[in-house]
Amino acid sequence: MSTPPTTPGTSPQVDPTVLELGLPQPVRDPELPGRVRIYEVGARDGLQNEGALVPVEVKAEFITRLAAAGLRTVEATSFVHPKWVPQLADAEELMPRLAGLPERFPGLRLPVLVPNERGLDRALAHRAAEIAVFASATETFARRNLNRSADEAMAMFRPVVERAADAGVPVRGYLSMCFGDPWEGPVPVEQVVRHGLALLEMGCAELSLGDTIGVATPGHVNTLLAAFTRSGVPVERLAVHFHDTYGQALANTLAALRSGVTVVDASAGGLGGCPYAKSATGNLATEDLVWMLHGLGVETGVDLAALAATSGWMARHLGRPSPSRTVRALLGPTG
Ligand code: HMG
Ligand code: MG
Repeated sequence: MSTPPTTPGTSPQVDPTVLELGLPQPVRDPELPGRVRIYEVGARDGLQNEGALVPVEVKAEFITRLAAAGLRTVEATSFVHPKWVPQLADAEELMPRLAGLPERFPGLRLPVLVPNERGLDRALAHRAAEIAVFASATETFARRNLNRSADEAMAMFRPVVERAADAGVPVRGYLSMCFGDPWEGPVPVEQVVRHGLALLEMGCAELSLGDTIGVATPGHVNTLLAAFTRSGVPVERLAVHFHDTYGQALANTLAALRSGVTVVDASAGGLGGCPYAKSATGNLATEDLVWMLHGLGVETGVDLAALAATSGWMARHLGRPSPSRTVRALLGPTG
């Protein structure tokens, strides 16, 4: 695939025809929720893997454009060790640039990733209103991503969650490697449930089940969600986080929706990957998700043309086309 010329600052034109014609044709499925909250991770999960540093003003504009396209939960950055994720080392510079957004876009939430108390101090100093901790269902990934065993990582998160609660800051818990691990292979469902329950019991309001390397398939999704439900976890507290390495993310999302999940993580343009998980590619592209949801008559609040134009704009900054099929269809092959 040839690399398109980089023309930072310009927005590609969306071919409006297909959307103006009313496509995708909405056909409501009564078994699905009427509305889905998209938890947008492009500015964090999407960018954290980019080798070339993206300027902070571009990140701020990206997040602003995502909010303007109708997304109401936009994960902004990480307060992790700057040496571990150099791309997000500018979190302190980014936060003040986002300060006016919740007023401009009512209902906008801008969560940030926090691994430990040091990260929490930094996040609170910059008025983060919502945070996320991130645990692992496997030992190897816990060590590679957090430099600790899985249980030691949980012990690191506990005071973070408690102090966040004292500060009135809601916490999301991510759990990685829920469907397979690139070093350990299959991950027993009971092991995933045990770690997920630990996050919920320590006070995380929501649990996002991560398919970090994109190996899940729909039956596996059903089985894991049913195991959580059997353990007494209301489905309202679960979110799904699919990477699209093997092209299964949309099918897995549909399975999760049929099980009652209404919070779906996705990354604008399909950006992403995890620097500490070999073979992780981008997340489910938000545009592909929105196309499917609107076709199913499920509300998202997202303006698909504005979102695709944003991903096209970011693709130009990064110097390569978006991997999202929907972005390419709407913007053309160099989108
Ligand atoms: P460590 O080296 O064990 O840290 O890293 P430590 O606690 O031993 O501290 C060492 C030094 O780092 C100390 O400084 C600390 O102050 C400093 P010194 O006293 O030596 O001068 N330090 C920090 N500085 C700034 N901010 C901090 C911080 N913490 C310690 N927050 C640590 C442990 C957790 C910090 C490290 O492993 C880390 O930052 N890991 C983050 C890795 C990461 O961000 N991965 C990507 C996100 S996870 C993901 O993408 C998966 C997800 O998308 C879901 C899915 O797909 O499955 C969420
Ligand atoms: Mg991820």
